[in-house]
Amino acid sequence: MPVLDGDRIVAALRGAFAREVSRAELLQLAAARIREAGSPYTSVYLYMLHGEELVLESFAGRETEHTRIPVGKGVCGTAVATGRDQNVGDVRAVGNYLACNTFTRSELVVLIRRGPLILGQIDVDSDVPDPFTPAEEAEVKKVADALAVLL
Ligand code: SME
Repeated sequence: MPVLDGDRIVAALRGAFAREVSRAELLQLAAARIREAGSPYTSVYLYMLHGEELVLESFAGRETEHTRIPVGKGVCGTAVATGRDQNVGDVRAVGNYLACNTFTRSELVVLIRRGPLILGQIDVDSDVPDPFTPAEEAEVKKVADALAVLL
């Protein structure tokens, strides 16, 4: 069983959307709810694409100095440049990894897509090595797909 219950978070996001909350509040809700799942979800970052740059619009967990990431840079920028979600089991094995802290062992990036358009991404840092199974990743994708519609 995955740790994350994506359906519950999607329901919360739909509820918030019905109350006409702001984009910032939707993003904050998503970040906070994913992180609340607990380990292996250590920190959650919502980077949204503004032109050729990913901009950190919301996060829950550890602060990061990487508030703007050019497309193509790091794991986050690679996801956008290649159009592929990134599941990095061991960040020490990745050459272009942008480190935020020394505790992070693994990282999952799931793109927020609306049709052919990439709107941004959900970036999860974990202190646990290689924890994101396909089932776990699928739960994060449910949240990303909901955001693509509601934002
Ligand atoms: N590690 C990311 C940078 C963002 S932080 O993890 C919040 C990367 O390599 O793109």
